[in-house]
Amino acid sequence: MTDEALIVLENVNKWFGPLHVLQDVDLSVARGEVVVVIGPSGSGKSTLCRAINRLEPIDSGTITFDGRPLPAEGRALARLRSEVGMVFQSFNLFAHKTTLQNVMLGPVKVRREQTAVVRDRAMALLERVGIANQAEKYPAQLSGGQQQRVAIARALAMQPKALLFDEPTSALDPEMVGEVLDVMTSLAREGMTMVVVTHEMGFARHAADRVVFMADGQLVEQAAPEEFFANPRSDRAKDFLSKILTH
Ligand SMILES: Nc1ncnc2c1ncn2[C@@H]1O[C@H](COP(=O)(O)OP(=O)(O)O)[C@@H](O)[C@H]1O
Ligand SMILES: [Mg+2]
Repeated sequence: MTDEALIVLENVNKWFGPLHVLQDVDLSVARGEVVVVIGPSGSGKSTLCRAINRLEPIDSGTITFDGRPLPAEGRALARLRSEVGMVFQSFNLFAHKTTLQNVMLGPVKVRREQTAVVRDRAMALLERVGIANQAEKYPAQLSGGQQQRVAIARALAMQPKALLFDEPTSALDPEMVGEVLDVMTSLAREGMTMVVVTHEMGFARHAADRVVFMADGQLVEQAAPEEFFANPRSDRAKDFLSKILTH
């Protein structure tokens, strides 16, 4: 445990062809910090998340994780991916594997941990996300909220140092959003380092240490949630908030 930030992006730039999708992005995330990223569609939020675990390479600048530059390939990249868990909007579970098998797969196949040890940990994680009684079911037999909780348990099974969430509740029916946000809120309280892209402003207000507002590939402003929501400084943030908070 050190004071050094866990995730540091410095002067990060990325283009998709002519589109400058990340523009001189500087962001550092402390250990145990919960950063919520908000902003209009197409502003680069997903690309930012994907850059942090190197699902997307960047064109210039640096990203360090736990004091080391992101590895480009090989075993070091596999280690990074296991240290930075990711939860997507589309749960991405293996359809032909049970809940328990989905959660066990990474530790057993990637880490080559012992099956019995992994099973105990996986069951404890399913308990923690409230679906231990669904362990033998297949994804198609679960609700969206349950599937997303399996996806969170699966990410946690790798014992990550940080978790990235990219709109984890956007594909859910409204009545299932709360059960997923509850799990995320308890992870935040327990000290997990989290970067969360979401439109759930209640979560941002209550669980975030910091809100980062992105527009057109730039981090336009960042502040503690109470300050950001009470007093957004940029016109773009004001405009965005007026659109999402009025309906
Ligand atoms: N693989 C890709 N190739 C080309 N353009 C992309 C690709 N992925 C995303 N984009 C574009 O980059 C911009 C930012 O996308 P994204 O990071 O998904 O934004 P957000 O998550 O904020 O909606 C959008 O204009 C999107 O169309
Ligand atoms: Mg996105």
